[in-house]
Amino acid sequence: MNYKLAVIPGDGIGPEVVEQTLKVLDKVGTKFGHTFEYTKVLAGGCAIDEKGECLPQETIDICKASDAVLLGAVGGWKWDTLPGDQRPERALLGLRKALGLFANLRPALLFDELAEACPLKPEIVEGGLDIVVVRELTGGIYFGEKGTKETDLGPAAYDVEQYAEEEVRRIAEVAFDMAMKRNKKVTSVDKANVLESSRLWRRVVAEVAEKYPEVELNNLYIDNAAMQMVRNPKQFDVIVTSNIFGDILSDEASMITGSIGMLPSASLAKGNFGMYEPVHGSAPDIAGQDLANPMATILSAAMMLRYTFGLGKEADAIEAAVKKVLADGWRTPDIAKEGEEAIGTAKAGDLIAAE
Ligand code: NAI
Ligand code: MG
Repeated sequence: MNYKLAVIPGDGIGPEVVEQTLKVLDKVGTKFGHTFEYTKVLAGGCAIDEKGECLPQETIDICKASDAVLLGAVGGWKWDTLPGDQRPERALLGLRKALGLFANLRPALLFDELAEACPLKPEIVEGGLDIVVVRELTGGIYFGEKGTKETDLGPAAYDVEQYAEEEVRRIAEVAFDMAMKRNKKVTSVDKANVLESSRLWRRVVAEVAEKYPEVELNNLYIDNAAMQMVRNPKQFDVIVTSNIFGDILSDEASMITGSIGMLPSASLAKGNFGMYEPVHGSAPDIAGQDLANPMATILSAAMMLRYTFGLGKEADAIEAAVKKVLADGWRTPDIAKEGEEAIGTAKAGDLIAAE
């Protein structure tokens, strides 16, 4: 098959890690008989420099006309003095909105080879960890009504947490569909003992669960979930939760796996369209020096193959290649131990592509 990708290298290490990822995708194409057709487009600081805006309409149009989007990272020191509403990072919010990306998938995968980087006791994570946090991305308190007002205690401010049944239903469906492709287990996280919006959340998730009789559903309160994440993370497989709880829980889950240079993510719209990007930013401190770890972006491409294109074998091949390179002892500087010799960005990409 032929797949059309919009590629947004962006700023800082973005272009470096994206280049390695395209190398790997090309190899996958050759091995499995697919072609990946790339259209590179501008977003972020480079778009401000060339086009005067961080997210040109042309970029949005090309993304919409593609099967999926691969993004490096945007932002950097050069643009840090711009006012908030003109900064390169605005491109991310603009893309989410324009592309209808309402589901954010953040896997927390602990590679056996990097188990030492895990801050938890070895017995807690024995046998590895493989969790996906499915975070609602376009609703909830971040987008609810907000303002200031006078109260009995003086000036105050408020933000409203609100969810429509339909918003909960569609994110729950993403989580249950994912559970069907994994281990048929969903944990829904809310605060239904206190919040009305969480009671609606819990009710709608239960309704969706009825359509997936094979999937086991558990409900947890957010405070308990945050505790369980460090006490016994192996109980989790797919976690589905609201925008704010997911923001916090996905960062917590990812940090138990070690380096930010290893963490992929996906943001999905209806119909499996998605934007795939590493969790990390543009790392201006190491940009242009062949120091960046390309694995987060390469693993994001594996997610793209699995979730948008339904190419499970091909995704497995990429993940296996990353594991093999780690098992062979190759490390970029961010995951190397003190005094251990490290390889550069391009070499890491070459090794993974070869595997
Ligand atoms: P960052 O993730 O870019 O960097 C944090 C630290 O991790 C730095 O020391 C960096 O060198 C290191 N690091 C990050 N990715 C790495 C990789 N692949 N390999 C090795 N080391 C890596 O976060 P920071 O410094 O807060 O932000 C830098 C810029 O990136 C800012 O302009 C920020 O707004 C932007 N940003 C963009 C994001 C995106 O495009 N999705 C997400 C987060 C930040
Ligand atoms: Mg966050």
